[in-house]
Amino acid sequence: MEPIRIDVTAAAGAYPVLIGAGLLDTLRDRMDRAGLGPRRVLISSPTVWDLHHPQLRTLGTEPKPVLVPDGERSKTVQTVGIVYEALIKMHADRSTVIIAAGGGVIGDLVGFAAATFLRGVRVVQVPTTLLAQVDAAIGGKTGVNHPLGKNLIGAFHPPALVAADTSVLATLARREFRAGLYEVVKYGVIASAALFDRVRDTTPALFAHDRNALDAVVSASCRIKAQIVSSDERESGLRRILNFGHTVGHALEAVTKYRRFLHGEAIAYGMLAASALGAARGVTPAQANDALRALIAQLGPLPAVSDLSAREVIAAIGHDKKVIAGTLHFVAATGIGSTTILSDVTEKELKTALKGLGLKS
Ligand SMILES: NC(=O)c1ccc[n+]([C@@H]2O[C@H](COP(=O)([O-])OP(=O)(O)OC[C@H]3O[C@@H](n4cnc5c(N)ncnc54)[C@H](O)[C@@H]3O)[C@@H](O)[C@H]2O)c1
Ligand SMILES: [Zn+2]
Repeated sequence: MEPIRIDVTAAAGAYPVLIGAGLLDTLRDRMDRAGLGPRRVLISSPTVWDLHHPQLRTLGTEPKPVLVPDGERSKTVQTVGIVYEALIKMHADRSTVIIAAGGGVIGDLVGFAAATFLRGVRVVQVPTTLLAQVDAAIGGKTGVNHPLGKNLIGAFHPPALVAADTSVLATLARREFRAGLYEVVKYGVIASAALFDRVRDTTPALFAHDRNALDAVVSASCRIKAQIVSSDERESGLRRILNFGHTVGHALEAVTKYRRFLHGEAIAYGMLAASALGAARGVTPAQANDALRALIAQLGPLPAVSDLSAREVIAAIGHDKKVIAGTLHFVAATGIGSTTILSDVTEKELKTALKGLGLKS
């Protein structure tokens, strides 16, 4: 079956995002035809390679892949150094194409290595988690963490191609899969009631990795991200709506030292908080707020927050880069599928919303 194709326009030129179950079986030929070769180096993680090497081994032209560890803790300049060393030792040159096969951690760190090695070589993103397929692999943001903060070191480096084979998601842990679904819900809230309804109405099929159900929500999500980054590559305005749920979400991740929540889980709470805030201001209709709460509950359990204090979370929000000139801006829903920006959100409003999630004072 032909994959779904979505084109992203970037300042550096357009690139396609291909989506479909079984896509990896034809990717090698597609890269050949697109002039992405002749030399290709596959970079992945031991986990992803072990699970999917039969399909992945056809992609690179080197005898062996480069494997680097992929937890969030490995998303460092040191790991990028391992990638550089492997590339130098195999005499990679400016025409070498790098293939980043893995979750968002691999995509971001290998993308950054590609952005900087020899001042930039082409990269093909092969995302293997739901989160990476619908979000991280598209848009050209690459980078690594610094001990003092997440994603502080990075570069814009749009891929030459993104290839999302939804069949690889079958091996993903249920919790990782669910965390990715919350980002899909985010796209529904910010841009598409149809996508939101589809997640609600096909939840069992999605968890069963039904091919049609999965391809439909992954492609709808990619289309939304592609549209937004095409018109606002460097996040001046429109791209900000992608941050729906992320102000509180990032703070929850930070106060728990990135140990308790998967990113999508923290975003689920963040969306609930943003929605409650919007409802309290009369911007988010009660119906939309209720629909979001119901869908997040339907997708499954979230880690507990009752031991966290609202005060701590508010302090963490103060350190977030989304505080513009001292005032806090919040993306809020004006319905399922549309947003507005709330400005001058106060600590008191935030506290009420956080306590509504079950946090203590
Ligand atoms: N660049 C961007 O625009 C952007 C956007 C969103 C998130 N991100 C980044 O993405 C990262 C999170 O990505 P993630 O959620 O994919 O996490 P991840 O890359 O850590 O992957 C999660 C886990 O899934 C495993 N895994 C990957 N593919 C698998 C598969 N097919 N089957 C079984 N296991 C598999 C990995 O080994 C890992 O243990 C964060 O670092 C975040 O900053 C970047
Ligand atoms: Zn996110």
